[in-house]
Amino acid sequence: MNILVLGSGAREHSICWAVKKSKSCEKLFCSPGNAGIQKIAVCEFINLKKKIQILDFCKNNSIDLVIIGPEEYLADGVSDYLQNKGIKTFGPVKKAAKLETSKSFAKSFLLKNKILTPKYRKFTAVNKAINYLNSINFPIVIKADGLAAGKGVIICKNLNEAEQTIKLMMKKKKFGDAGKKIIIEEFIDGFEISYFSFFDKKTFLPLGYALDHKRAFDNDLGPNTGGMGCFTPSKKVSKNLEKKIIKNIIEKTFLGFKKESFTYRGILFFGLIIKNNEPYVIEYNVRFGDPECQTLLRKLNTDFLEIIASITKDELGKIKITNSRKSVVCVVLASKGYPESYNKEILIPNLKKIKDDEKTIIFHAGTKNLSSNYFSNGGRVLSVTSTGKTIEEARKSAYKVLKKLNWKDGFYRKDIGFKNF
Ligand SMILES: Nc1ncnc2c1ncn2[C@@H]1O[C@H](COP(=O)(O)OP(=O)(O)O)[C@@H](O)[C@H]1O
Ligand SMILES: [Mg+2]
Repeated sequence: MNILVLGSGAREHSICWAVKKSKSCEKLFCSPGNAGIQKIAVCEFINLKKKIQILDFCKNNSIDLVIIGPEEYLADGVSDYLQNKGIKTFGPVKKAAKLETSKSFAKSFLLKNKILTPKYRKFTAVNKAINYLNSINFPIVIKADGLAAGKGVIICKNLNEAEQTIKLMMKKKKFGDAGKKIIIEEFIDGFEISYFSFFDKKTFLPLGYALDHKRAFDNDLGPNTGGMGCFTPSKKVSKNLEKKIIKNIIEKTFLGFKKESFTYRGILFFGLIIKNNEPYVIEYNVRFGDPECQTLLRKLNTDFLEIIASITKDELGKIKITNSRKSVVCVVLASKGYPESYNKEILIPNLKKIKDDEKTIIFHAGTKNLSSNYFSNGGRVLSVTSTGKTIEEARKSAYKVLKKLNWKDGFYRKDIGFKNF
């Protein structure tokens, strides 16, 4: 099969890495890609906002399957368009992507299907939202309904903060149209996990989970980011809890899909908070998480491309997933200043000296190659991903490589996988 991967993050690098290992992979392309992906795939520039250009590329290069990494292309209907033109895709159609692109849509789906989720109300008028605040206890969570690049959720400790947040989202349009509608949600005090399952029309197949570290700095301080690192497994997640997640959440979601006017084919990310051993669904994402993907694909022993290809034929039922027992830790190296402003095109001098090995793979995110040297090209720059018999062993390997990289213009958290397991 000839494959085209869309995206440029470390998630897409790990996807390319996993696809490349498959015996069914012939040619592998990626757009736009990055300096790491370039080593294993042909990176081409396609204007991904113009669907016809993606189609032309697919025709000219005999692409059999397009793997769509980021949510923005799914929200834009790239999957629908290519499928209608006879090209297979991995990533759900636009209607199904609404599970991520509209938090109120996801909430009503959860309620309809009796899946445990924090209590909420949705609002389209500022005054009604503000009035509602008088009848509830704090803290509460206020969420812009639409896509807001991971920034549209604010936890408010008191009435004043909540009022300001409502005004910021609905009046000042901080998140543009994404904040026209908001939801106000009960705060759940527990620990978070990201659970993943594949779906096709006939069945679902759980993949596994990882624990993500979202805040920029150690001890969960600083602003929210796309994710500064993650690890799997965790001692907090018992077999019993996993069973509960599969039965009460994933299976009910699958049964719920049968009543909708779309078919969900792809991977689904369940953002969960566990309180008193009960999993609450906080959100759905209709694609792999970044950095969770990097860790899960390093544990996967089943041929990744075969899983994906089976989904396009509704033959997921024929696949059996086996994961290695390894622990995996992924630490993100980011540009200084991320997630706010940061400089680009800064040399990462030691990167070319460090070779991947059995334990550690460096997946690239915002990198580019200029005259055989690696330079930064984004906020999150590298995902150093290590395996080990234990989390401790995996951590040691990852941090050893980060020390060797010794990138003065970047920063990383020192506590990934340190507590919490
Ligand atoms: N009901 C809630 N209770 C406690 N924390 C929450 C709740 N909803 C969201 N959060 C926190 O806010 C973060 C972002 O919320 P989420 O719904 O995942 O939105 P997004 O990923 O689109 O920004 C979550 O990862 C979690 O840490
Ligand atoms: Mg989230």
